[in-house]
Amino acid sequence: MKRNFVNIEDFSGEEILQLLELAKKLKANRKLHSQALEGKTFALLFTKPSNRTRVSFEVGIHQLGGNCIYLSPREIQLGERESVSDVAGTLSRFVDGIVARTDTHKDVEDLARFSSVPVINGLSDEQHPCQALADLFSIKEKLGKLKGITLAFVGDGNNVCHSLMLGSALVGLQMRIATPKAYAPDPSILKKCQQLGQRSGAEIAWMESPAEAVKDAHVIYADTFVSMGQEAEMKKRLKDFKKFQINSGLAKLADKNFIFMHCLPAHRGQEVTEKIIDGKHSIIFDQAENRLHVQKAILIRLMQ
Ligand code: CP
Ligand code: NVA
Repeated sequence: MKRNFVNIEDFSGEEILQLLELAKKLKANRKLHSQALEGKTFALLFTKPSNRTRVSFEVGIHQLGGNCIYLSPREIQLGERESVSDVAGTLSRFVDGIVARTDTHKDVEDLARFSSVPVINGLSDEQHPCQALADLFSIKEKLGKLKGITLAFVGDGNNVCHSLMLGSALVGLQMRIATPKAYAPDPSILKKCQQLGQRSGAEIAWMESPAEAVKDAHVIYADTFVSMGQEAEMKKRLKDFKKFQINSGLAKLADKNFIFMHCLPAHRGQEVTEKIIDGKHSIIFDQAENRLHVQKAILIRLMQ
């Protein structure tokens, strides 16, 4: 049966750890499994802009011997020029897999439902599972383990936050999320994380105080205050998130060897100061690079 990667829980905690091991081997040897996708073609269907996701998937698919076709927001016009189910049915007759970046999470779920080939979520308004898997890989790479690590996510309880919460809950990482009340993560996702945590030992907690979240944390994580599609709310959001910036004052509460992570794109002077994001604790470009290795592992696993 075909498998999708739409939600991070499409893989179990154990499978995630296996994927991270495979990604480590792929990082050590970029030529490994160079024929895994030979003769296979992937559609990259994006309704929003992208740097990391598009480029890392294109490069990764080529390194594994496959081909891809990039379909920009102008081409398919998902749900406008054609229904999601017709797009899924048609693409399934041409390609072996679909990587989709969609406006709504329902669109990527429907693409998966109506496709006969695997669908990978390259970001929706609710989830960013490829980012979260790469983030777990980066934490393990830099800090040597996942269990026993405390991650503080400060800002908006958004797509990146949701997938990181669920990923942390699956593998046993402690995560504290600090957001203004009106921007808290989805309560149903928080509840699911708390249930998953009972099995893995993870504690996922939401709070309003960035200082409480960051205290003694090993990882500080930031994302934009204004996600793609929320541009009209920019002024209000920048005001509402004023006290949620990662700066030296806040960072000094963290573990002295903390790492700073950001999924990028970043806005220096908004969610993070230049001093932190360009400083010695920041791992942002290693983190971005790891998208490539982890996604190659995902592609190999889904095409098995
Ligand atoms: N982090 C991330 O997904 O970046 P892009 O939006 O550039 O793909
Ligand atoms: N939360 C951001 C992540 C970008 C990778 C957005 O959705 O725009």
